[in-house]
Amino acid sequence: MVDEHLSVGPAGPTFHGQTLEQHLLAMQRKASGATGDFTGLFQQLSLAAKIIASQVSKAGLANILGLTGQVNVQGEEVQKLDIFANNTIVRCVQQGGHVCVMGSEEIAEPIPVPPQYPKGKYVLQFDPLDGSGNIDINASIGTIFSIHRRKTAGNGPGTLEDCLQPGDDIVAAGYVIYGSSNMFVYSAGEGVHGFTFDPAIGEFFLSHENLRIPKRGDCYSVNEGNRHKWEDGVQRWADWIKKPDGERKAYKLRYIGAMVADFHRTLLRGGIFAYPADRKNTSGKLRLLYEASPLAFVCEQAGGAASDGARRIMEIQPTELHQRTPLYIGSPEDVADAVRFVGG
Ligand code: AHG
Ligand code: MN
Ligand code: MN
Repeated sequence: MVDEHLSVGPAGPTFHGQTLEQHLLAMQRKASGATGDFTGLFQQLSLAAKIIASQVSKAGLANILGLTGQVNVQGEEVQKLDIFANNTIVRCVQQGGHVCVMGSEEIAEPIPVPPQYPKGKYVLQFDPLDGSGNIDINASIGTIFSIHRRKTAGNGPGTLEDCLQPGDDIVAAGYVIYGSSNMFVYSAGEGVHGFTFDPAIGEFFLSHENLRIPKRGDCYSVNEGNRHKWEDGVQRWADWIKKPDGERKAYKLRYIGAMVADFHRTLLRGGIFAYPADRKNTSGKLRLLYEASPLAFVCEQAGGAASDGARRIMEIQPTELHQRTPLYIGSPEDVADAVRFVGG
């Protein structure tokens, strides 16, 4: 007689399914007129993600932890891994010939493509390492990116004008999360797809097809240490959400302090992540072009919402590369609730 506990079937190898590259190629075949440029850019991005993931996972060994002693354009101390991640993305992408200019959190001006490489039709903007305060404590961090079509004519170098485009003009955006597993999550305007990295094979495999965010969650995510600086509406929202109201239970608070990680949980489980404006920082903390609008694009593609308290993040026309914005992002009903308090 077979012991029931043992009859779990043969422990043979399982089929891994579709890689990120295969998924992109399948999409490319569906889009008439696709040149392969877009898939090429993603290949460079996923290579950069693998290199960054490999460094992140051995950060404790590689003497790459800690600060460089420099200060970035935001006036924050720059961590060594931030610079490594920035340089990795720039080096991988500039060689591909798919972009005409890039924009990064770590670099004050638009990043030109060196003269020896061809210029492409896309514009890449990124936060190379988000949540870098978490590096030293072995908590999740990430990379955020967005892709626009170039606005300027011709095939010469791109300019600041190419970078200053609203979220509504994004062609594709996504993030990589370096966590208990590493994932690449992206949308090219046809839903949101998540790929989990198999380190034994060195590929991202489709694990979360067509992700949909719940209409409402049970969790809010905000740095409540800033409460004393918030405007009244934001304080009232945070007071309201943590208490039961009629049918609605009190919301749980979860805050990692790395937006990619807080957003990833919000996308999978529902709820809201917020970084409000306050009396001192009237535009909040997060950057529009390479933090808020790429995640707003992903969130809307998953059925969610993203607002600055008054308008959709995606509608904001940027005027500066490193412009900041307040952000309320997540389940559509939870974002609508926040906007009622904050916008009123
Ligand atoms: P970065 O590491 O790219 O500078 O971003 C940090 C951001 C974001 O990831 C996070 O949500 C937020 O800063 C946390 O800020 P507080 O420490 O002020 O809560
Ligand atoms: Mn960031
Ligand atoms: Mn960063």
